[in-house]
Amino acid sequence: MTVSTSNGCVLIVGATGFIGRFVAEASLDAGRPTYVLVRPSSENHSKNKVHKALQDRGAVLLNGVANDKELMVKLLKEHRIETVISAVGGDKILDQLSLVEPISSAGTVKRFLPSEFGHDVDRADPVEPGIQMYKEKRQVRRLVEKLDIPFTYICCNSIASWPYYDNRHPSEVIPPLDQFQIYGDGSVKAYFVAGTDIGKFTMKTVDDIRTVNKSVHFRPACNFYNMNELAALWERKIRRTLPRVTVTEDDLLSVAAEKRIPQSIVASFTHDIFIKGCQVNFSIEGPNETEVSSLYPNEPFRTLDECFNDFLVKMKGENTKQSNEIPAPKPVVEALAITATCA
Ligand SMILES: NC(=O)c1ccc[n+]([C@@H]2O[C@H](COP(=O)([O-])OP(=O)(O)OC[C@H]3O[C@@H](n4cnc5c(N)ncnc54)[C@H](OP(=O)(O)O)[C@@H]3O)[C@@H](O)[C@H]2O)c1
Repeated sequence: MTVSTSNGCVLIVGATGFIGRFVAEASLDAGRPTYVLVRPSSENHSKNKVHKALQDRGAVLLNGVANDKELMVKLLKEHRIETVISAVGGDKILDQLSLVEPISSAGTVKRFLPSEFGHDVDRADPVEPGIQMYKEKRQVRRLVEKLDIPFTYICCNSIASWPYYDNRHPSEVIPPLDQFQIYGDGSVKAYFVAGTDIGKFTMKTVDDIRTVNKSVHFRPACNFYNMNELAALWERKIRRTLPRVTVTEDDLLSVAAEKRIPQSIVASFTHDIFIKGCQVNFSIEGPNETEVSSLYPNEPFRTLDECFNDFLVKMKGENTKQSNEIPAPKPVVEALAITATCA
């Protein structure tokens, strides 16, 4: 069956960001003509390094901001952009309202993927302040639908890592080495997806006719864990057991109520996932939704087991640098042998 419609130019907005970088790398891996929108005033060394790395791999850098309507129409037309993927951060979701109009009027764009990359925001209902971000994402959805722009909403669930309740990008942090904080009784399950797979599967959807005007949910069966199972997996890796401390529903709600940004937002999402079960309390059966493993059954996901091996390697690297601060891991090579893959 032919499911792909083109191999046209892709513009990524937010490629220096946490999620955007995975998407940009995946677009280049897939051999797509890849354009990256670069905000001016970047004196930020690490962001400049990301741009340079993407450019070295063949990405074309375009200067501009997503909310400059006139410029965006010009860029989209000039470079005949067929797919726009936005990965602007949670605090800039509404900037996309100004991007939607140029996408509609340029006449070149065949698919828009707004900045989603989490839960189904029309379904999930986290407490404040997390709900605010969902309301903004809903606003962007409604405008996209009103202007009849072909879209795909990526609902990729959680990033593969220990889900720290106060860290926006937990996959950059090694899982606990002193104690586990378990949310509630630790029995509510969630789906964990490696950043590289978020990028890879996002790129598979962009010109797949089966994903037009659909929410695409990521539910890899091999990466379906609750907190207790996650803790046990990490204990097998580090070859020791750690004490468990319960973080109750009330604890999470009080961190959310503190309205510290971003910690309170993350706490409200953590509550929604691990107490209320927002990733698992519905089935995917509506006409406007589909599941990524059923679309690409032969395409493997990185397992959480493999991702935790990466943390072991990272931990070993950090140990070499700070041998007195972190307890040395048990044999990494031996632990790395315990791997699995899933399709
Ligand atoms: N599933 C998960 O576990 C997970 C985790 C994190 C995030 N997310 C979601 O993923 C999405 C991206 O979040 P993130 O944390 O990756 O974002 P981020 O790290 O804050 O990066 C945001 C990117 O957007 C760019 N940007 C912001 N406003 C812009 C504008 N007006 N014009 C052009 N570029 C603009 C930034 O450019 P500069 O380089 O110039 O700053 C940066 O590259 C969000 O929807 C978030 O909710 C999901």
